[in-house]
This record gives sequence, structure tokens and C-alpha cells, in this order.
Amino acid sequence: IIAFFMPKVLKGQRVLVTAGPTYEAIDPVRGITNLSSGKMGFAIARAAREAGAEVTLVAGPVSLATPRGVTRVDVKSASNMLSAVAAHAQSATVFIATAAVADWRPAAASAQKIKKDGSGQTPQLQFTENTDILATVAGLPAAQTGRLFCVGFAAESHDLLENAQAKRLRKKVPLLVGNIGPDTFGQDHNALLLIDAQGSLELPRASKLSLARQLVREIAGRMAACAP
Ligand code: CTP
Ligand code: CA
Repeated sequence: IIAFFMPKVLKGQRVLVTAGPTYEAIDPVRGITNLSSGKMGFAIARAAREAGAEVTLVAGPVSLATPRGVTRVDVKSASNMLSAVAAHAQSATVFIATAAVADWRPAAASAQKIKKDGSGQTPQLQFTENTDILATVAGLPAAQTGRLFCVGFAAESHDLLENAQAKRLRKKVPLLVGNIGPDTFGQDHNALLLIDAQGSLELPRASKLSLARQLVREIAGRMAACAP
């Protein structure tokens, strides 16, 4: 009912969202992942759809229902996520990176289950850094010329404003969103800090869906402001 009355501020836009964790295999039965539930990203996909956008949601392993009218692509690893994003970024006008992408993957996943050998020795894992999906998309010509509006999220444990502003500049995105936790993982509520070239704006504690709707309005407003 509410969606019916939502102003269609993203009508005609094609929004690409990443959400959830990624899963990096160690062997066929084990891997490393993180605590992202995907709830914020799914709420943003839903809010963008309600606002009239065509939405593609690239989701890591999560147990959440696909928002109505949203095209979902399921992926496992960061490298799977990068491929799926690359396939859709060309036609997108907005990219919102909420995924908690694993920063590292085991350098070589074992093709077979690693067995205990009885000696008490533990496996020694080597890691390789995953490609930064957000920075890759933000480096595309469309993003550089403003035809593709990129939004990042920042997971910070301390000095949110300073760290997030530095991260925004490093990734070359117009808008970076910080979680004002604490302990937002898996929760239905959160508070956000929006950081752009002008400064910061706090969206006070609310449901993730309410925050997603506010964020969508903020994004639409910023796109209108920088439209040619
Ligand atoms: N991100 C991404 N691909 C990666 C790592 C991060 O797309 N390989 C995106 C996240 O989806 C998020 C933003 O980059 O939108 C910031 O992620 P974050 O983990 O906070 O930053 P990092 O650059 O990975 O730095 P660090 O974890 O060391 O703070
Ligand atoms: Ca990271």
C-alpha cells in the first residue's frame, strides 16, 4: 500500500545493487565468509523498485526473499560477484555497493576435502586479495562522467566520519554511507551517516526499509543536482 504512494523519484533509472556476504571456498565443504545478513541491500533494492527503477540485485549467500519486481542474480564468491556486476554495470545508471565482499580468498581452493592426517598439524592457508568491485565500477567511463552514480557503504569500527570520508575519496565515489551501529549485522534497524563532498548527514535510527527509502530519495536528489 505504501509502495503505491511512493514518489517515483527513480523512474527511468536502472539500479544495480550488491548485497550480502561473499563465500570464499577453502575446499568443497568449507570456506570463509562474514556476518552480513543482506537485509540493508535487499531493503535498498526494494525501495529503489518502489521508486520506479528497474532493479538488478546481485546477492551473495543470504536467506532472504527477493523483493517484488526485482531481478536477482545469486553469486557465491567475490569473483562471481565481480563477473555478475560487470555484466550489468554497462546498462546501469546507479550502482549501490552494500555487499560485505570478502577482502581475501584462499589463494588456492583444494579440489578435495582437506582431511586431518592424525598428526595434529593444521592447514596453512595463504590468501589472495579480491578485486575491489566498487572501485572497479567507479573507474568505468560512465561513472567518471556522471552517467553512472556510484554509492558505497563503509564498515568501520572506529572514527567513522574520518575513515569513511577517506574511503570515499580513495574509491572516487560521490556518496559513501556509513553504518552507525553498533552491531547492525542481522538487525532490522540501523542508523546511517551519508558522506559526500559537502559533508555528512545523519539518518537517525529507523528500520532498514525506512532508511532505504530515505537513502533512495537522497540519491535521487543528488543525481538531479548533478544532471547535465
Ligand atoms: N567493496 C567491494 N569490493 C571489495 C571490497 C569492498 O565492492 N572487494 C565495497 C563494499 O561493498 C563497500 C565498500 O567497498 O561498498 C567499502 O567496503 P569496506 O569493506 O568498508 O572497505 P575496504 O575498501 O574493503 O577497506 P577495509 O575493509 O580495509 O576497511
Ligand atoms: Ca573490506
